[in-house]
Amino acid sequence: MRVSGVILAAGRGERFGGQENKALALLCGRPLLYHSLVAFARAGVVDELVVVARPGEEPLVEGALAEVPLPGRVVRGGERRQDSARAGVLAASGELVLIHDAARPLVSPELIRRVVAAARKHGAAVPILPVVDTIRRVDGRGFLRAGQVPREGLVRIQTPQGFRRELILSAYAEAEKRSFLLSDDAAAVLAMGRPVAAVPGDPRNLKITYPEDLALAEGLLGG
Ligand code: CTP
Ligand code: MG
Repeated sequence: MRVSGVILAAGRGERFGGQENKALALLCGRPLLYHSLVAFARAGVVDELVVVARPGEEPLVEGALAEVPLPGRVVRGGERRQDSARAGVLAASGELVLIHDAARPLVSPELIRRVVAAARKHGAAVPILPVVDTIRRVDGRGFLRAGQVPREGLVRIQTPQGFRRELILSAYAEAEKRSFLLSDDAAAVLAMGRPVAAVPGDPRNLKITYPEDLALAEGLLGG
């Protein structure tokens, strides 16, 4: 089964702030996006890369792609994450696609291999982490609500998320038809009533959302 890595870098990075898209912000001297491309190449199980970029940012993305030893192409993203993901999967040629947020530059080759193995077997697989903190709701005024939120069975979901290409494409089509707003790709598959396997995620695989996350990631990369 040929495997395509689809890296999503077409967001605005609004919470990150600044002039440029956070996917191109420098982490240890390289664009955020570049670190994921290297991990995908090192995993040894990925045949091609598709990077989804914002219009106008293609040249920078092409530059990062040129540095990794895998065939790659750049396609334009859309307004919502799910539009970008669908554009990337449509451009991918593998029977298996791994959809990954460029905002997670510390993804490891081991995690990529774990997701590929489970997606080959089950058709859909995502990395999960247990929720260890106490979870509560707050009211709009900065005070805690009294009701308990049971933590049991709750997990946090990461990327890369792996799917048989045909499965995720039909899930996106169904989600589009029903006007679902998807927070991740597994949501589309789950909405169709299809199973998604869970594999152990990686606590280092953090998502860069706010500027201060960059310093955290630099610490992890350096250490
Ligand atoms: N993404 C995308 N296309 C979109 C929206 C998001 O390719 N229309 C990508 C982002 O580039 C990022 C990933 O999806 O790598 C996860 O999204 P998020 O962390 O929310 O990034 P942004 O949407 O860029 O940030 P923000 O929500 O703060 O604007
Ligand atoms: Mg976003």
